[in-house]
Formats: sequence, structure tokens, C-alpha cells
Amino acid sequence: MLRLITVTLLYICCLGHCKHEHNTGKDCRNICNHLRIVGGCPAKIKDHPYQVSIEHVYRGHFCGGSILSKHWIVTAAHCVKEMKANQLRVRAGTSHKHEEGTVRKVHKIVVHRKFHNFDFDVALLKVEKPFHFDKSVQQIAMASTVPDVGTCVTVSGWGYLELGGHSPLNLHHVEILIIDHRQCASSYHDLTPQMICAGWPRGGRDSCYMDSGGPLVFQKKLVGIVSWGYGCALAGYPGVYTNVAVLKKWIREHMK
Ligand code: ARG
Repeated sequence: MLRLITVTLLYICCLGHCKHEHNTGKDCRNICNHLRIVGGCPAKIKDHPYQVSIEHVYRGHFCGGSILSKHWIVTAAHCVKEMKANQLRVRAGTSHKHEEGTVRKVHKIVVHRKFHNFDFDVALLKVEKPFHFDKSVQQIAMASTVPDVGTCVTVSGWGYLELGGHSPLNLHHVEILIIDHRQCASSYHDLTPQMICAGWPRGGRDSCYMDSGGPLVFQKKLVGIVSWGYGCALAGYPGVYTNVAVLKKWIREHMK
């Protein structure tokens, strides 16, 4: 019951906050920070129908992913590198972790050959049976360019609500800004052209553990894949995302 009230309250308080790109959400932020959300709000799958949960057959949700076609999911290489296809399944079409939606077994995993230290952090999963698309299950197109610095983009997932927190039952999303690559490289010396940064300059909004592999989206196109960061939502340490525009060719060529 308490959880229900909390979720409802959060939803109401964050609704406006998430809708306005440049709203700093002052009124709402206090409440949300108190409840220790990493700046996000509960989300509906119909607003992110490309979002999937990647589950371990025994341990459940551990990473996010995005639907690129009826047969293919894109995720982070670091999520699935050590896995075998028969240990995984993909759940689409639900906002609720481990519940409802459509579940598919994984037929094969394709990890980028150059994946190393979070560079080229991209992998594809081919599902055994195609997805049926509807309002809650849809593919997303890949962006061909990185949005300008300062553009408001959306990241979603079932990742931690705070550093050292836990993964929520409901899908969450948050709007963040594309951060200048050079500026980001001053915080992270190992940044490569295969990575882009997005976050909230003052901190307080970010993706976090178990969001990995999930979508960073601008104007209904996939621009990034949740990859890594120092802690979560710390000022000066934005999230680092796999740069989909530069890896688009590799992705396309391996979806066969
Ligand atoms: N590597 C993390 C994972 O496997 C994702 C970290 C994202 N961190 C961040 N600060 N944005 O789930």
C-alpha cells in the first residue's frame, strides 16, 4: 500500500517535471530527491515501446535493450559478453519488471569484435521467434548523427533509483542533456569516439546500474546505449553512452 502511494505521488510530482525539457523541476525535485530517485519518473511502455528488459533465466532482469526489428535487439556488449544465448531471454511490451509482456528466447548473441574496456560497447541479440508489433512493442530507428550539445534526450530503464539503491519494479525515464565531448573527456580520460556523454550538469539525473544496454533517445531515434559512468548522477560525471551513429553501419551489417 505504502509503495502504491509512493509511486502515485512520484508519478504526480514528476509528470510536469519530465514533460518540460528545460524545467529544472524545482518544486518536484525536492520531493524526488527526498525519495532518492535519480531524477526520474515512472514511465509507461507505450511511450517507450522499443524498450526491452534482458533477463537471466534464473536471476531475472539485469540489463535493458532496444528493439531494432522483429528479430533483433541491440544492447551493450558488457551486458552479454560472458553469457550464452540459452541463459538469456528478452521481455518486451511491459512497464513491469518480470511481469506480463512478450518473452522471447535468445537464438544468438553477436558482440562487437573490438569491444574492450567499454569501447565499442554494443551487441545484438537475435530472438528465436519474431516479435509482433503493437502499441507496446515497436522497433526504433537508429540516429545517423549525434544531437547537438545541450539537446534534451531521454533515457529509460529499470536501473537503480540511486547509487547503491535497487532496481524498481516499474520502468523509469529521465530527460538529460547531451554533454560536450571535450568537456566530458576532462572528467573521463578514456573517452573514445565510440562514446557520447549525457547527463545533468548539476547532477541529480542519470541512468544507473541495470539500465545498461538500454536506450538513449532523441526524436524517436536511438542515439545511445547506456554504457558506463562514475557513480550515478554525480555533478561533473555524466553517463557515458555507446555512440549509435558511429556504430550504425556495424549494427546494420550484423543484423543478418
Ligand atoms: N554499467 C552500468 C550497468 O551495467 C550502467 C552505468 C550507467 N552509469 C551512469 N552513471 N549513467 O548497468
